[in-house]
Amino acid sequence: MECWLRWFLVSTPVNFYPFCGVYMWIEEHRNWESVDYAPLLSGHLFPPEFMWGVATASHQIEGGNTNNWSAFEPHSKSGQLSGDACDHWNRKEEDIQLIKDLNVSHYRFSIEWSRVEPQQGIWDEEAIQWYSDLVDQLLAKGIQPMATLHHFTHPLWWNEKGAFEKEENVEDWIRFSVKMFEALSDRVDWWCTINEPAVFATMGYVLGEFPPGERSFKKTKIVSTNLMIAHARCYRTLKGLEHGERTQIGLVKNINIFDPYRRWNPLHRFQARLLDGMFNLCWIKGLKTGRFKPPSGLRSKKIPGLKGSSDFIGVNYYTHLLATPFMPTKVDIDPLIRPWEERTDFRYPMYAEGLRRAFDMVSCLNLPIIVTENGVADDDDDMRPEHIRRHLQITGEAIADGMDIRGFYHWSLMDNFEWAEGYDQRFGLYHVDFETKKRTLKQSGALYSEIVKAHRMPQVVILAGGLGTRLGEQTKSVPKSLIDVAGKPILSHILDWAEKQGCMEALILTGHLGEQFNDFRHQGMALTFHQELEPLGTGGALWNARHLLQDRFILLWGDDFHPIDYGELVAHHQQTSSPLTLTVTTEHEQMNLLHIDGKISQYDKSGDQPAEFNGYESGTSIVEKSVLLDHGKEGKWSWEETIYPEMSMKATAYLNNTKFWDMGTPERLARLEEFLNETRF
Ligand code: BGC
Repeated sequence: MECWLRWFLVSTPVNFYPFCGVYMWIEEHRNWESVDYAPLLSGHLFPPEFMWGVATASHQIEGGNTNNWSAFEPHSKSGQLSGDACDHWNRKEEDIQLIKDLNVSHYRFSIEWSRVEPQQGIWDEEAIQWYSDLVDQLLAKGIQPMATLHHFTHPLWWNEKGAFEKEENVEDWIRFSVKMFEALSDRVDWWCTINEPAVFATMGYVLGEFPPGERSFKKTKIVSTNLMIAHARCYRTLKGLEHGERTQIGLVKNINIFDPYRRWNPLHRFQARLLDGMFNLCWIKGLKTGRFKPPSGLRSKKIPGLKGSSDFIGVNYYTHLLATPFMPTKVDIDPLIRPWEERTDFRYPMYAEGLRRAFDMVSCLNLPIIVTENGVADDDDDMRPEHIRRHLQITGEAIADGMDIRGFYHWSLMDNFEWAEGYDQRFGLYHVDFETKKRTLKQSGALYSEIVKAHRMPQVVILAGGLGTRLGEQTKSVPKSLIDVAGKPILSHILDWAEKQGCMEALILTGHLGEQFNDFRHQGMALTFHQELEPLGTGGALWNARHLLQDRFILLWGDDFHPIDYGELVAHHQQTSSPLTLTVTTEHEQMNLLHIDGKISQYDKSGDQPAEFNGYESGTSIVEKSVLLDHGKEGKWSWEETIYPEMSMKATAYLNNTKFWDMGTPERLARLEEFLNETRF
């Protein structure tokens, strides 16, 4: 397309929104062919603690649900029934493994109220247990759960009472939310109240495509207001419960960008502004000010507790729509697109640039942003890889510009029941054969998992098999890493720090008294224990467990606490393409190595160090497994005394004076205890 034509169609001045500050309304279109995706694939675009996720919703995958949607399905556009969907209810373990195989750290799912409370006031404890098991199984694999309390569906008995059409019904939903929060909030840190209230209200009451299939502006106003009332009450109620303070609770808002089809046409501009106001801004403004003016409402109303009722804002982003006063109100008529844009199977265009505009739009809330959904309907998976790259690129750039974006959940884990479209729109990273229920990874799934892997923190390997003889009596009956320091085993402190740095998996190498680790757990991290049967030394222990090691790992000592920034350390390791990176401090009473030009030249821990020694190894290192495979051997040997000399001038020194704490002697243990009590990480 000629540049001038493109400019003429889309150029626009900046628009001002008084309550939200200023956000750019420029319809940016980028030349994606010139974008360099290398940082995306090499792991340089996102911070290490970034939440990488996939998302689903109960009714779309579970199968066998009876709710407002199952009742509506025969009358929906496609007429297709959800039926047994992906049969996820009976394939939970298999599906958790699929999530795990994508390398992601987070999973967003919704809780099916109609299963938990099939009749009013009658709780199905087995269903609650099912969700509780789901959470346990996710955590055991190092995947953090995020639970949504309302994702378009609710029980029939509540539907018959009028659902969100009556304010007094909100109490029923709050009771359900409390029930689930009490059951899961000891383990679930992330909660979404309502998924896409604007979509629920407009699809159900303006377009009539979702249940109850009505077209009534009056009801749209009432339902929209009650959704906001419900969200605010839910947030306030859950925050007041046990674990409420700790958990993060937020609203999930779908942001649709509306652009005038012709910039120069005031009617098109007016229509875009109108739709933007009704679909996006009135909801955001409601959260910000506590006063809500529902779509097409004339007056705003103060909703108690609404102002500031979110710890984060969930953004679901899919596309932009080009507005004219004569836009179709039926979704089966193709929306207008720009000539250079590509249509998704849903017929709306792929427009990744709009994700940045969605971030700008919600930034007035001053809340952490999480992309709780982004994905594409693409039957043959030929568009999804590029869709993923573009949207992640936009997200990474926004982070680089200083925006507080904490995570990205791809929609969806697997193909599923796409509401009014039935099974015709496929959004999954896994293909699902709806006859056999077989799941198959798509190319886009492999790409997403590759990008995630490149950004995820490596596995942590902890050497916890030492005898700890210098600690005397204590270590005769308790392994050193399980000694209690400031209220919990030192191993828990080490794992707390690793988890905070974004690590989700740890391999713990035990030896002496290794059986005592049998019941050891650390919520949110997948732990693997491997016990040596006879003392093998640090090198022998690693060699002995080489089948469990990942290609790159962070090596720690099981009795040292070293609160160093892993992100910077890993970045240094990557930048220097080092096979082995040691952290080196220059602020220690002794020195045990010589580093020259960023490389370790000599190492000697015997005690008689030459005067030119200029550093001390402070504990945390990054190891490429190839180093172990090339230099390791059977039997008993010391990692540091064997490998460091052999890697002379090859191993990198990462100079950093973050203090490390060891507990080699009772005095040092006491100092560590004092430090942990004071700092309370
Ligand atoms: C909804 C999902 C839906 C997706 C794709 C989102 O608005 O939350 O349930 O499957 O869009 O259309």
